[in-house]
Amino acid sequence: MLISLRELLDHAAANNYGMPAFNVNNMEQVHAIMKAADKTNSPVIMQGSAGARGYAGEPFLRHLILAAIEMYPHIPVVMHQDHGSDPSVCLRSIQSGFSSVMMDGSLEPDMKTPASFKYNVNVTTEVVKIAHAGGVSVEGELGCLGSLETGMMGEEDGHGAEGKLDLDMLLTSVEEAADFVKSTNVDALAIAIGTSHGAYKFTQEPTGDVLRIDRIKEIHARIPNTHLVMHGSSSVPQDWLKIINNFGGDMGQTYGVPVEEIQEGIKHGVRKVNIDTDLRMSSTGAIRKHLGENTSNFDPRKFLKEATNAMSDICAARFEAFGSANNA
Ligand code: G3H
Ligand code: 13P
Ligand code: NA
Ligand code: ZN
Repeated sequence: MLISLRELLDHAAANNYGMPAFNVNNMEQVHAIMKAADKTNSPVIMQGSAGARGYAGEPFLRHLILAAIEMYPHIPVVMHQDHGSDPSVCLRSIQSGFSSVMMDGSLEPDMKTPASFKYNVNVTTEVVKIAHAGGVSVEGELGCLGSLETGMMGEEDGHGAEGKLDLDMLLTSVEEAADFVKSTNVDALAIAIGTSHGAYKFTQEPTGDVLRIDRIKEIHARIPNTHLVMHGSSSVPQDWLKIINNFGGDMGQTYGVPVEEIQEGIKHGVRKVNIDTDLRMSSTGAIRKHLGENTSNFDPRKFLKEATNAMSDICAARFEAFGSANNA
């Protein structure tokens, strides 16, 4: 059944759990998430990025999620649009039937340069008015995702292209968060605490000075009724990193957000935890391993099945670790 993000996160808050929100681009990812949710009896958030819409096309993305709902009618599913770059993107998703949208007004519409607080409040408020009229939820973002180690915004390949950011933008201000939620009436707020998108988040196991869980606690204490969202929250599994490199891959050494740190966030108001990279790494590792060990195979179903199983194991582990298991 399709439900709104607000309905699910209200339940998560009342029952002290967090929801992994997985990015989806193809059928194997959708299958992996749904199999894990069915096994652990967890609700689901699936989200489509601009990149996913470009890859699969919006109708395919939406129908993959609708197919999942048809196949697993007992599992509550949120269909969320990730990182909308301006209100028109969100409006199109609302019209096409998404139950939740993210208006990311932390960046200018080019998604590369930081936006002003005022711009962010204006665009987010505009989306909230339209979305709420149709029962659709809205996630906003305040602060820019980026590394407190290097001052760079996240980059998929580990080579930050943009200029360094002001360190204050990389850490959401407690007072601005309170003002932002009051002015916009968002259902959930993504905050910046030192995580970044992609695999290259930290050059070593993160310590409290680069992964600021303390800031989550301060924001939660100030606005306890706001559902907080952590982006860039893949854990970058070291076992899959090794498998990728052992079977012909070339990824640099890197570290993600430890599951225990996410669990600490969930104790302090984090209700949605965005994960994309972990499923990318596990599927790539499983495919490399399968093809490395089965050089005569040319049936894609065989390696895609391995990829699905590898992703599904990670999904099930996150449903268990974040406490959403047994809450479907
Ligand atoms: O927002 C970040 C997600 O990892 C999506 O990335 O735009 O490459 O699909 P993407
Ligand atoms: P990761 O790159 O850590 O998986 O983050 C995904 C994300 O935040 C999508 O919005
Ligand atoms: Na999102
Ligand atoms: Zn994100």
